[in-house]
Formats: sequence, structure tokens, C-alpha cells
Amino acid sequence: MTRILHLSDLHFGFHRAELVQPLLDRINCLRADLVVVTGDVTHRGRSAQYAQAAQFLSQIRAPLMVVPGNHDVPLYNLPVRWLRPFGGYRHAIDRDLAPMRVAGQARVIGMNSVDAFAVQRGIIRDAEIGRVIGSLDPLAMNIVALHHPMEHLAQVDKDLSRHAPQALARLAGAGGQIVLSGHLHVWATGAMLDQTAHPQVLQVQAGTALCARLSDRQNEFAVLDIDGGDLVIERHIAPMDRDEFDTPEFEYFARRDGIWIAGQPPETPIVPGATETAFSTA
Ligand SMILES: [Fe+2]
Ligand SMILES: [Fe+2]
Repeated sequence: MTRILHLSDLHFGFHRAELVQPLLDRINCLRADLVVVTGDVTHRGRSAQYAQAAQFLSQIRAPLMVVPGNHDVPLYNLPVRWLRPFGGYRHAIDRDLAPMRVAGQARVIGMNSVDAFAVQRGIIRDAEIGRVIGSLDPLAMNIVALHHPMEHLAQVDKDLSRHAPQALARLAGAGGQIVLSGHLHVWATGAMLDQTAHPQVLQVQAGTALCARLSDRQNEFAVLDIDGGDLVIERHIAPMDRDEFDTPEFEYFARRDGIWIAGQPPETPIVPGATETAFSTA
């Protein structure tokens, strides 16, 4: 079994300070093989916000990889945004904007979907998706991690990233299996699988782990337990009026003949002990 913990949209600078330590405690309690952060680690890309984000990330004990989000480039300082959009990110978080990690059965391939000239919408560049496809491992569970979703639910009224439909079609055809994203601050996984034209790819759109925006209703993150073609996803949720994470909710998926299907809990647990994890530090 391989455990990937997926965080997104931390928004340091506009975050729930009281939830930082409970989040760290829960993350470290879960003993993931890899923690993946899909962008918006800061709210405005300011140096003090990057210092807070870096301090937080340094306390995660598991191996870590991060990709940038649209909030990680300066919004109002146009000269800096155009000339050195990722300067602060590279200095504080990672010089590599598209890292790749291998963790157990999983290969996680990062992608930078931020466009300094269209920060809200983003872009999935042809060269980037080509690099991702060239990095797929036929023997692994291939996971692509980026900030902007590659597909939206029908009810989402924001613009999809430029070139996203073509990129998702290419990824599905090439054997990509899971996409981790964030940005919308709204969870969508099973609902996305119901609507997508590409059920070869399970898209895990995480909510925000720390953002203080009240309309987000809750903070949350995901844990993916991968066992061959079976996948258990835990959603760890902290309602906006509580400073702790609840006992997780579980969703079950299975990849059969190259297609993901939503499943029921197995009679025999796929991941022994997964439901017995203690959260005494939460
Ligand atoms: Fe965000
Ligand atoms: Fe975003």
C-alpha cells in the first residue's frame, strides 16, 4: 500500500492560524509516503507569507513535493510578476516548479499551470503535458499534480485553464491514471468521475486546507491509499467553526480495464488498519 497525502491552497497570509498546528499534527500522524501540495501556498506571494509557508512545510516529516498556484505570483506588482513571477516561490519553496517523485507504487509528476499573464485561469502548456506523458511509468500508478483542474463540473462558472481539454485527452490516451489539483476550493472527485469524458483518469480536486475565506465553508485535505488498482480516499475535514479535523470520510474507487469506477467499501478492507488510524493529536 502506498499513501499519498494531498494538500492544496494553504493561502498563508489569509489562513486560519488556529488550524495550523492541528493540520500539522494530523499530517504527521498519517505517516504518508509522500505529501503533495498543489499550489497557492501563499495568498499574495509576499516574502513574509512565503516565510510562513516555508516554516509550515519544514515541519512536515514525510517526503514533500510542491507545485505553484496562481496566488504564488505577485498580483499587484506588475513588473515583478512579468519579469520574475516565480522569484519568491523559488527562493522560499523550491527552485523546481515541476518536481517529480517516486513513492512506493506511485510516480507523481508535477506540472506548473500558472501563467503570469493570465494568473486566475492558468494554462496547461503543450510542452508540459508532453513532458508528463514522456515521464509515465507503465508499471506505476501515475499521478499528475498541478494547481488548476483539468476539467470542471458543469456547475462551475470559472474559466477552465487554457488547453486543459486537449491536455486531459492526451493524458488519458497515454495512460495517466490520477490527477491531483486544487484552485476552486471545492472538493470534486466522485462527482467529476460521473461527468467526465475521460474515466481513465480519476481527478481529485481538493478543497482548501487552510484558507480563511468563510464562503469556503470548511477546510480539508485528502489521503490516497493505493493498493494495485484499488484506491481508498480519506477526506479530512475541519468545519470553519471548529479548530480541529473530524474523523475522515471514506470514498472508494477501483480501476478496472483502464477505467475508474466508484465502489462500495469492500467486505474485507483493502487497506488493513486504514479505518483504525488514531487521531489523538488532532
Ligand atoms: Fe486557492
Ligand atoms: Fe488558485
